Amino acid sequence: KQATSAADVVGKLEEYGLAFSDDLHLFAEEIFSKVPWKVSPRKQKTYENEGGTGTGSGKAVFEDQIEFIKESMLKISKAKSELETLHEDRRTLPIYAHRDSLLKAIEEHQVLVIVGETGSGKTTQIPQYLHEAGYTKRGKVACTQPRRVAAMSVAARVSQEMDVKLGHEVGYSIRFEDYTSEKTVLKYMTDGKLLRELLGEPDLASYSVIMVDEAHERTVSTDVLFGLLKDIARFRKDIKILISSATPDASKFSDFFDCAPIYRIPGRRYPVEIQYTKAPVADYLDAAIVTVLQIHVTQPPGDILVFLTGQEEIESAEEILKHKISGFGLEIPELVICKIFSNLPTELQAKIFQPIPIGSRKVVLATNIAEASLTIDGINYVIDPGFCKIESYNPRTGMESLQVTSISKASANQRAGRSGRTGPGKCFRLYTADSYKTKFDDNTPPEIQRTNLTSVVLSLKILGIQNLLNFDFMDPPSNEALVTKVGRQMAGFPLDPMLSKMIVASDKYKCSDEVISIAAMLSVGNSIFYSPNGEQVHADHARMSFHTGNVGDHIALMNVYNSWRETNYSTQWCYENYVQVRSMRRARDIRDQLERLLERVEIELTGCPNDLQAIKKAITSGFFSHSARLQNYGSYRTVKHPRIVHIHPSSGLADNFPRWVVYHEVVLTTKEYMRNVTELKPEWLVEIAPHYYQMKDIKDA
Ligand code: CDP
Ligand code: MG
Repeated sequence: KQATSAADVVGKLEEYGLAFSDDLHLFAEEIFSKVPWKVSPRKQKTYENEGGTGTGSGKAVFEDQIEFIKESMLKISKAKSELETLHEDRRTLPIYAHRDSLLKAIEEHQVLVIVGETGSGKTTQIPQYLHEAGYTKRGKVACTQPRRVAAMSVAARVSQEMDVKLGHEVGYSIRFEDYTSEKTVLKYMTDGKLLRELLGEPDLASYSVIMVDEAHERTVSTDVLFGLLKDIARFRKDIKILISSATPDASKFSDFFDCAPIYRIPGRRYPVEIQYTKAPVADYLDAAIVTVLQIHVTQPPGDILVFLTGQEEIESAEEILKHKISGFGLEIPELVICKIFSNLPTELQAKIFQPIPIGSRKVVLATNIAEASLTIDGINYVIDPGFCKIESYNPRTGMESLQVTSISKASANQRAGRSGRTGPGKCFRLYTADSYKTKFDDNTPPEIQRTNLTSVVLSLKILGIQNLLNFDFMDPPSNEALVTKVGRQMAGFPLDPMLSKMIVASDKYKCSDEVISIAAMLSVGNSIFYSPNGEQVHADHARMSFHTGNVGDHIALMNVYNSWRETNYSTQWCYENYVQVRSMRRARDIRDQLERLLERVEIELTGCPNDLQAIKKAITSGFFSHSARLQNYGSYRTVKHPRIVHIHPSSGLADNFPRWVVYHEVVLTTKEYMRNVTELKPEWLVEIAPHYYQMKDIKDA
């Protein structure tokens, strides 16, 4: 008989042995009243054959109803319990007990320094508390992060906790990617992004609270924000500034902000047992892998976190681990390998937080990102090889390099602490106790002492702050006019000054259309081409086809972009040409943004498809200080501040040895390599940058 009421349905369900809570009874009724019971013509026929009669009646329909309600209830109860779990999680965080007193302290002080161990809930909870307390009625709450990945993943988490769509009330904004809308009240963003917003809104009028999070990381942007926010706080009495840090020593922040009070969130930490190696290890990657396997086979349940230095290392570790565990027998539980680093595509980032099958173990291969900015629950074992990659910069030569160096004691302790969040932990240090004591610095020097500051200094200049910090300019502009006009145009682009200069110069050479494609491709980084195992020959062949005529790497990048555009951005084309579609989409996105920015700084979009010289001159205008000339034996010497460099093997000009080149960057691996190289005529240097080069610089020796 057809069900005529929800009670009927529920009765039947109970008859089937399906117990539901009272709450779900209500849902059953709601569903029953809302769902129009329709039967498809095909099914209708079946019912009739089976002896059923009429529309929407009969036994089969009843079963359909039950089936539908059962499914809906399960879905609802699953979603409900997930949300409930999230809410319960919120209440178990160390910060929760201090919610009210923290809000009170914020109310009473304009600037507050907040200290709490990583994982205590600062980043995800404080903005929500502020929202609940009504701060967002007066303006947005910004929470800055030194890392893009952290901004994205935290925003995603908070939007889940608030049960809203990401990009609505909760959003994130990072370079080239704005995931916010008019509705957004909690905005997670990189510190660099806020700095950039300051250019357009010097008093941050649309914000009610700025939380400078992960302040202990002391990135350049964070350091610069400190100075600017201190100033803003003086004339905007209604704005709140929160400085939050994971390291206990916060007196520096407090001193800087005129003795701002420090609010400490008491941590909850379990003991961590630390083990050192007896002798130095020869190959830490190898040692890390062996340790993972040992833990997996011999230690009680609990996930493993391994700190490695970069994407390449992580991917090779992943491959080796996969290979090793494939040889394990069925008696060894599953080992789920996850990874996290800044260039990892968004959809893969979420994997580190996803639950794994019962009985299995997770190993997370991470860069420094997992040291403080991201908290992964369930970690009981940490493997710390003692290294990280940091950017270092030589202001005299303009040389930037990422170098693997020993971490500091502070970092090592932070890393170890990651294992003791949810229970007693173990940390395996792949170095000796003696190295820790004698070779590790106490703290990592702040980035401002070791990086390229040009774009920051330029931004400060645009803000009218000429002398805030006495940094060295890499390439000081020759005259005031340059700073005010070209400089202002340059600052309009979210790119480093050389790329911006290249775009601004493209106006003169009437090739802005081509040059923004090149800038977009360069901004994507070195992930355009790929070369799968066993297909290297084909991949190389495809890659070299863009270099026909030895046009140089910049023009080759443009050729890739244009060819893709001609296929109407085809994914298939990317596969066929060994080009990463994800990178191309990003390039397209960046290019679209650059195109819109052109208009804003009044540069016309013009193309000169057949005039490669014009394009090369525009490139040279941006990168004139990156010039080098051929020496004996295929090496190159940079023109100013002489230094020996080589063409990177991935370059289309690697076997071509042009006499003069301009390069995008120098990377230090086994040698100092110029990456992305284009040939130039030496006289261009004097023509384009007379304030920098004289004839004697380009005379033949
Ligand atoms: O900022 P803090 O280190 O004090 O903590 P948090 O980032 O707010 O993290 C609080 C909790 O949220 C941790 O237990 C994390 O595991 C969880 N969380 C998460 O599950 N997914 C994220 N993307 C971020 C945090
Ligand atoms: Mg945090």
